Amino acid sequence: MKVTVFGIGYVGLVQAAVLAGVGHNVVCVDVNEKRVEELKNGQIPIYEPGLTPLVQDNVSAGRLDFTTDAKRGVEHGKIQFIAVGTPPDEDGSADLQYVLNVARTIAEYMQEHRIVVDKSTVPVGTADKVSAQMREVLARRGVDLGFDVVSNPEFLKEGAAVADCQRPDRIIIGTDSAAVEEKMRELYAPFNRNHDRIIVMDVRSAELTKYAANCMLATKISFMNEIANLAERLGADIEHVRQGIGSDPRIGYSFIYPGCGYGGSCFPKDVQALVRTAEKTGYQPELLKSVEAVNYRQKNKLFEHLSHYFDGDLAGKKIALWGLSFKPNTDDMRDASSRVLMEALWEVGASVQAYDPEAMNETQRIYGNRADLSLMGTKEAALNGADALVICTEWNIFKAPDFDVIKDALNYPLIVDGRNQYEPSIVESYGLAYYGIGRGRSVSVSNEA
Ligand code: UDX
Repeated sequence: MKVTVFGIGYVGLVQAAVLAGVGHNVVCVDVNEKRVEELKNGQIPIYEPGLTPLVQDNVSAGRLDFTTDAKRGVEHGKIQFIAVGTPPDEDGSADLQYVLNVARTIAEYMQEHRIVVDKSTVPVGTADKVSAQMREVLARRGVDLGFDVVSNPEFLKEGAAVADCQRPDRIIIGTDSAAVEEKMRELYAPFNRNHDRIIVMDVRSAELTKYAANCMLATKISFMNEIANLAERLGADIEHVRQGIGSDPRIGYSFIYPGCGYGGSCFPKDVQALVRTAEKTGYQPELLKSVEAVNYRQKNKLFEHLSHYFDGDLAGKKIALWGLSFKPNTDDMRDASSRVLMEALWEVGASVQAYDPEAMNETQRIYGNRADLSLMGTKEAALNGADALVICTEWNIFKAPDFDVIKDALNYPLIVDGRNQYEPSIVESYGLAYYGIGRGRSVSVSNEA
């Protein structure tokens, strides 16, 4: 099938490449000329496992193309995906200007029926707005052309985006048109294997499903972070508690890992956006507001641990930081907990010596050159001359470090572990103090240099 994707960010690019990979003919449209040129040459703007060869192979095979020419894009696909960004505006609501611009563009150039698919995460009611904008443009053009607007939210996880997109656990299609459903089923047939993964519903329910999924997952995390903070005060170990409750199949083991807070492009933005949506209806979403508040507080946890250890005297301290991205296998720094920590440290006159396997360029792009940030070539180099070590992201290469090397390199024997990667007793056996999340703070190791 011929498909057009507007917006070659995370969601659009992955979706386009995966659709081309099963034989669909996909044209991607973006206003960013540099990005379009780079992609035509097989250069991928983001780090995502498996994406580079998938894009390159499909570009070579002529099934995937990139353009800034919106008219060509609209002419190409019977199905037009809208996958542009919906950044938060000043009050945290999703800003729809890019989505609505694309809707107007499609209406401007279309010559026959088009199925317009909202792939971006958009507030409930957006499909109606997209329709209204399109009707307005078509009326101005004086043409009588039909179109349908479908909600088809994306559930991919960064770092596993290609695999998630190729093997979705569900494909949500929000439409009340049987003809549109049929077309969408044809499009997704290659991914609808083993059992029917397609769930068809009305447009508004589909739009809300996306927010409900992300907010539920964020709620699980904030809940665990709250229990972890309690465990710390009560002398319990959250790791035992986690296993104890995860074994109940009604709760399950996934998304109950406490840590230094959730980040990324989805959870913080989507929780906030749903809070705003709820408030606009006159409903106070107490639970969601707390999910957000707990996460906000949790991102300060690492700084609090450091402050506790150094008795509030962090000025002039040099902190080694392992992991900058908001989670492993991505270079994405959006709402990363590492940023909250670094900015808090800089605020009090401490400096940071950091290492991340993929996110160093992104960190450099965000913060530029500054005297209180050194980006080091290896995790060991990040330790040299540092006062303490903090782990912000659970990359594989941080999982089994040489604790003797850490102990020798640090001026003070302290590991603050924001992702509960190590066993406190093992770390302590090397003469290092260990502060995790909800696992207590070592008292057996002195805080002397
Ligand atoms: C998420 C959803 O998982 C995905 O379905 C949706 O489409 C987009 O948002 P993503 O943002 O890529 O995906 O990351 P995810 O793996 O879900 O992690 C989000 C954040 O939660 C990370 O900061 C992670 O460290 C944190 N997290 C996750 C926890 O703190 N504890 C957990 O148990 C799980």
